Parts: sequence; structure tokens; C-alpha cells
Amino acid sequence: MPLDVCVVGEINPDLILYGVPAQLKPEEESLVNGFRLTLGSSSAIFAHNLSVLGTRVGMVSKIGADALGKMAFDWLANAGVDLARVCVAASGPATGLTVILAQPEHRFILTYPGTMFEFSHDDLDLEYIFSARHLHLSSYFLHRALRPRIVDLFREAKTRGLSTSLDTNDDPEGKWGNDLLEVLPFVDIFFPNEREAKKVARTDDLQQAIDKLAQLCQFVVVKLGSNGAVARKGSEEWRRTGLRVASVDPVGAGDSFDAGFIHRYLQGATPQECLDYADVAGAFSTTCEGGTEAFKDRTRVEAFFREHLSSS
Ligand SMILES: Nc1ncnc2c1ncn2[C@@H]1O[C@H](COP(=O)(O)OP(=O)(O)OP(=O)(O)O)[C@@H](O)[C@H]1O
Ligand SMILES: [Mg+2]
Repeated sequence: MPLDVCVVGEINPDLILYGVPAQLKPEEESLVNGFRLTLGSSSAIFAHNLSVLGTRVGMVSKIGADALGKMAFDWLANAGVDLARVCVAASGPATGLTVILAQPEHRFILTYPGTMFEFSHDDLDLEYIFSARHLHLSSYFLHRALRPRIVDLFREAKTRGLSTSLDTNDDPEGKWGNDLLEVLPFVDIFFPNEREAKKVARTDDLQQAIDKLAQLCQFVVVKLGSNGAVARKGSEEWRRTGLRVASVDPVGAGDSFDAGFIHRYLQGATPQECLDYADVAGAFSTTCEGGTEAFKDRTRVEAFFREHLSSS
């Protein structure tokens, strides 16, 4: 079966510790009240949830020859993601891992990048990638080896007739390099959250950021957490007010939102329909721990979407 979407990116688990004390004391043992080891990483969460929604997804990635890599691989395979082009590095760093410390007021997010830092353009099967209708890439700033040639990948994807989307997520170095601006002309849908949009556009004003980014790519879709999202194409704008849901965990809401948007985009839906569906996907993700736990129960997925799309 031909692919709808090829995701180029990282695969690693998240270890989320809940109820971490507000003050951690050096050398003392602190107790937490729960944990979840689950599929993490922006690219993998996107691929997993998009596949559950019914889009045919393949991933091109690199994991380590270790138990964490195997675990993440199996979670993705169970969701129906094609993993034939995921390479297992026989030597070098292990599969990456993110540890999230969930405290009462804040989250601390600690990432060991592992194979993600080694994953390069040489690891890509370009014919496989360009056999898809759409290319998606997440975690732009974490792909240290791949980053210099991401612009080539997106340029070629556009030449081959694919549609494209990009979610940078955070830049742990805080530099928000201008190389990203060279990629954006080859991006059809750019998915920053509010903070990321302002950082990339180098302004503290969201409206100015959207104005600037809309000149660089086809669609800018800015995620606003529980306030929903806004989409802009040229001078046209669409908005969605966030759903009121009983949220337990925001991890992966952004990637679930992206998956919802692309699912409907590839079905030829209108921008407002894409935005509404994406918002429901993002909100749904927050109803369970981690970024993919909610999407593991397909009956719940269908019931939630039925309820919240019909009322919007
Ligand atoms: N508490 C919430 N209640 C309802 N909907 C939410 C909530 N949090 C997020 N969403 C939905 O999910 C979308 C994406 O969330 P968010 O703005 O946190 O993205 P993000 O910062 O990119 O997330 P991530 O941490 O996954 O990178 C929002 O635009 C909204 O549609
Ligand atoms: Mg995000």
C-alpha cells in the first residue's frame, strides 16, 4: 500500500514521573507518586496518532540496538506505522530517552538525544520518502546531524510534488538559527506553538509573528494550548477556541494536534475543518498520560471525536 505520510525523525520513549516534589534536595532520596514509560518524541507521537486516525504512515529513523529502542519500535508497529526504513545502529549511542519531571506547578524535561544526534541525510531512503504524498519532520533543532540538509530534503520533496509540514518544537540551545528561515519556503504547513512562533519570527508580539511567518510559508498554524489554535494563509485567518476537557497531561498535545490537522488536510478538508479536527485531537491527547496513551483505545478515540466534532 502506498504511503500517505512519511515522517522523518526521532523515535524514543518518555519516562514521565508524576508528583515530583517541588523542591528536590541534592543527595537525598525523593519519592514520586507514579510514573509512565510510554512512546515519546515528537516525530514518533505524531506518526503513532496519525496512523491510529487512519492515515497510512511510514517512518524513517534510527534507533539503538537496545531494549528502549525495541519497546518504542513495537509501540509504533502496533499502531500500524510502517517501520521498514528504521535503521538499528549496531554501535554508537543508545536510543534517546526523555525524562519528564512533573511537579505541581511545572514540568522539567530532560532529554538524552542518543541516536537522534547521529541520524543524518545518509540514513535516508529518499525513494521511500518521496513515494509518500506528504513529508513531515519534527524536532528540527534536535536533529544535529540531519539539520544542515533538511533544506535539501524539503526542496526535493516539493520538486517531487509532495506536500510538507514541519514542527520545530523547542530549541534547547535557545538560538533559533536563521537556517530554519531557508526551509520555510518549502513548508506547506508550519506548526509552532505561540512561544516558538515568536522566537522564530524574533518578536514578542504574536500577531506580528503570524504576519511574518505567513509570508514565509503556505500555512502557519499556531497552537495556543487550552486556548485552541489559529491558522493563517496569506491574509486569510481561521480560529478555533479550545475545548474544555478534563486534562491530565499536556505531553504530546502539540504532536497530536499536528496529526489531526494533517489527517484532514490530506482528505482535502477546508482549513477550518482541519483546525477543528486538530484541536479535538490535541485536547483528546491531554485526557491520558503521555502523548499516545489516549490513542491506544480506538473505541475511545472514535467516541471522543464523534462527541466533540458534532458539537463544534
Ligand atoms: N488543556 C488543554 N485543553 C484543551 N485542549 C488542549 C489543552 N492543551 C492543548 N490542547 C490542544 O492541543 C493543541 C496543542 O497543544 P500545545 O499548544 O500545548 O502544543 P505544543 O506546545 O506544541 O505541545 P507539545 O508539548 O506537544 O510540543 C492546542 O492547540 C489545543 O488544540
Ligand atoms: Mg510542540
